[in-house]
Amino acid sequence: MSTVVYVPKDASALSVGADRVATMIAREAQSRGIDLTLKRNGTRGMCWLEPLVEVVVGSERHGYGPVTDRDVAGLFAADFLRGGAHPLQLGRVDDIPYLASQQRLTFERVGVIEPTSLTDYLQQGGYEGLRRALSLQQHEIVQLVTDSGLRGRGGAAFPTGIKWKTVLDTPAPQKYVTCNADEGDSGTFADRMLMEGDPFSLIEGMTIAALAVGATQGYIYLRVEYPHAERSLAEAIQSAYSAGYLGKDVAGSGRRFDLEVRLGAGAYICGEETSMLESLEGRRGEVRVRPPLPAVKGLFGRPTIVNNVISLASVPIILRRGAEFYRDYGVGRSRGTVPIQLAGNIKRGGLVERAFGVSLRELLYDYGGGSASGRPIRAVQVGGPLGAYIPASQFETVIDYEALSGIGALLGHGGIVAFDDTVDMARMARFAMEFCAIESCGKCTPCRIGSTRGVEVIDRIRYGIDRQQNLQLLEDLCETMAEGSLCGLGGLTPFPVRSALRHFKDDFLKPPTR
Ligand SMILES: Cc1cc2nc3c(=O)[nH]c(=O)nc-3n(C[C@H](O)[C@H](O)[C@H](O)COP(=O)(O)O)c2cc1C
Ligand code: SF4
Repeated sequence: MSTVVYVPKDASALSVGADRVATMIAREAQSRGIDLTLKRNGTRGMCWLEPLVEVVVGSERHGYGPVTDRDVAGLFAADFLRGGAHPLQLGRVDDIPYLASQQRLTFERVGVIEPTSLTDYLQQGGYEGLRRALSLQQHEIVQLVTDSGLRGRGGAAFPTGIKWKTVLDTPAPQKYVTCNADEGDSGTFADRMLMEGDPFSLIEGMTIAALAVGATQGYIYLRVEYPHAERSLAEAIQSAYSAGYLGKDVAGSGRRFDLEVRLGAGAYICGEETSMLESLEGRRGEVRVRPPLPAVKGLFGRPTIVNNVISLASVPIILRRGAEFYRDYGVGRSRGTVPIQLAGNIKRGGLVERAFGVSLRELLYDYGGGSASGRPIRAVQVGGPLGAYIPASQFETVIDYEALSGIGALLGHGGIVAFDDTVDMARMARFAMEFCAIESCGKCTPCRIGSTRGVEVIDRIRYGIDRQQNLQLLEDLCETMAEGSLCGLGGLTPFPVRSALRHFKDDFLKPPTR
């Protein structure tokens, strides 16, 4: 019988040579006359172990990693196809503590199945959520999503069901479902990992959303820097059409839903939902004034759902297993699970899906293993470039929208970037203003002008020029940007700046590192 070997084809694995490893395994098997089936899965999200090669032994998957092409001959010699001992041997993959202690709901199939195999998807509970949705009235689907407590995972944490209800209740001849796959936040890769590793779950989630609100057309707005996700989505969409899960008769229901991928051009502001809609309509990504909300007047002036990849991909499991099942995970008003992405100066970078309520310390040390440099972690930035810097003294804070907001931080898209004690936080504050200046769409003054002035003011503080006056000026500027900006780019840039000032003021008072 043919032995099955999995080698990931996720971009994170490819970037460290997974294709070469796959080629070498196929070649070595052929030269040894071994019957071997090579499958390409997504990543399990343990980036430091990539390329993570998995061998099916009996009914279990045994891991070896990180494997290079030079290790392949040795693995064969060690009889790895039967789980043989080797320095890279990791044992049963499901038992690796990083993975075993996670609560994978949205990512349950990622790294397990062949991403674009509809057969694999269906075998693992795929499209059961859609089947349930087809047995419900539109308002019942929306109610179920509302009852699950799901809040948008893109950053604003708005209740998904409430947004859908607005679209459902707004009469229009045409409605749209759009997926925000721009994933611009620093240190984030959950959307990419899901789209590359289990694209059908996003397609199914969007189809359920469309049925719920009466939309017949969907768009995935994908950042152009994700070519592997584009390929994976294109293949999966094609299969879904061929099998009748997309098109004019979704799963034999007589209901229509068409889905296309549109590529963004790499501007951070195009992740802001109204800019994304402008870009989807073929214009320059510039923020629209709200109201009207996209749910009322969105794409091409029609009621439109705009949801993040993870929000939409979480919908099938809510339909399949029920609102209560999902809501039972989490704490307070933060229900369900959340994929946390560990990046920056961290030993074991990767994705951890856990129920809300896990602490930063657990994430950084139990999962992350501390800093990659071996030095103490001094601060983490949570929530992308507009997120606050959190000092080590607050690492007991748990991942919960309200708990984070209580310490002046935000969760954003769940990215955590770690810094060790060599970081100059005044420089990081300057970077936040500079980032805003570069990425500003230019529509409103506090952001367009304020961010450029912000860089100058921080420079004056760092170089000791009229320090006290400039510190006050920086505070005033932050207040103006927070209160007067039209969208979150200008409005949230004060988060990293103010948090750096609050927790690391000394860094502003010593000579700059660069
Ligand atoms: C400057 C800026 C950038 C954003 N970038 C993204 C992004 O890359 N992906 C995303 O899903 N949401 C992003 N958002 C949030 C979106 O505006 C919007 O809230 C989200 O797509 C709604 O989906 P959700 O409710 O499922 O989170 C961004 C917001 C701002 C202000
Ligand atoms: S805050 Fe910045 S990005 Fe947002 S609308 Fe104003 S200028 Fe544009």
